[in-house]
Amino acid sequence: MTATELPARPMDSTRDDRKSAALAAQRVHADAGARVVGNFQLGRAILRSAQMRQAGAGSDGMNPDDEFCPVFFLDGDTHRGRRTAIARFFTPKAISSRHRLVMERTTDELLAQVRADGRGRLDELSYKLAVAVAAEIVGLTDSDQSGMAKRIQATLLGTRLRGMHPVIRFGAQAVTAVHAMRFFGRDVRPAIRSRREQRREDVISHLIEEGYPDKAILIECMTYAVAGMVTTREFIVMAAWHLFDDDALRARFAAGDEADQIAILEEILRLEPVAAMLHRRATEDADLGPDSVKAGELLAVNIRAANVDSETVGACPHALDPDRASRQKGVGSYMSFGDGSHRCPGAQVAIAETRVFLDALLRLPDVRLERTPDMTWCDGLMSYELRGAVVTCSRA
Ligand code: HEM
Repeated sequence: MTATELPARPMDSTRDDRKSAALAAQRVHADAGARVVGNFQLGRAILRSAQMRQAGAGSDGMNPDDEFCPVFFLDGDTHRGRRTAIARFFTPKAISSRHRLVMERTTDELLAQVRADGRGRLDELSYKLAVAVAAEIVGLTDSDQSGMAKRIQATLLGTRLRGMHPVIRFGAQAVTAVHAMRFFGRDVRPAIRSRREQRREDVISHLIEEGYPDKAILIECMTYAVAGMVTTREFIVMAAWHLFDDDALRARFAAGDEADQIAILEEILRLEPVAAMLHRRATEDADLGPDSVKAGELLAVNIRAANVDSETVGACPHALDPDRASRQKGVGSYMSFGDGSHRCPGAQVAIAETRVFLDALLRLPDVRLERTPDMTWCDGLMSYELRGAVVTCSRA
């Protein structure tokens, strides 16, 4: 029996395979005053429009005209220039020749430990992998990595400030600043020092080349920590949960070639996007095809809604169907990595590391998901968080 002949659950319009939908329905919300857009075509037109500025979390405090602003908040020509400059760290060649080695080596080390212990916490494993891969791309390779993962985790307190009582928020901001300085002193500064002596092929070397001050390099590193490490940690656990829960899907993944495994992962990400909302502000009146927007208007593209817009993704939009994208001639992850000029540069990296890790995990002898994850919500990142899932296997 080939992978595609394996029995699959029947499609029907009432099937809903999303695990995060109920929690997201309670918790996803747009910034105050934003017009929410759930239509895929309009959402994509907004994200591709040159008349929009980034208005995502934290952008109020950022000046997109400041040349040392993090890439996430830049716009226009400066943003284009930066994206062109960093594109070389994310090409398929860079992935297959450099990053793949880190993915495979880290996966081997993590799973050797799972084999020795007979068990492991999925979110801890996926976080260690995501940190190792992003650290290599950024150039955070001159300090102890498991210590750095903890220091980065501590700086993420900043993502929980939204909705806190002002007094607690003030205290939390101070604590976050202390953690950020610790991350700077132990991890970022040594990386900068060694790259000032000798440049490498990574983001920090590029920022030094561009004359970035140390503080701006720290902020860029923290941007990558949230954008690349935290997102991937959650996605790997979510993808594993789907595969362990569905025998036919797991069998197809295990038997599939690289392209089929990627199709499965992208379809899971379509249904369970880690980022839920992308905000943009219109700089002028614009006609965007399906609709028009007014200058100054704040728009919130609802990724979760766009990804299940049946006009674009086809019938039974809530059902997990790995053949959907090829049938619809669409990009498998649909809007989960954004679109337009800010589209995630790390998309292929994230999918590749998830694939490498899960392929190896599912090959462990007698592997099973002993405990499913607890799902909570992070308002600051507008994202689900999956904690406490445990995998077991027979001990080596
Ligand atoms: C499953 C994992 C990931 C998801 C779901 C994800 C999602 C996204 C999304 C939706 C955006 C667009 C934000 C916007 O338009 O406002 C974005 C941007 C970004 N992502 Fe990812 N990402 C992932 C992994 C990664 C990885 C592994 C890296 C790097 C190592 C990375 C680096 C970035 C950066 C630097 C940006 C900002 C780009 C810009 O503003 O021009 N991401 N990501």
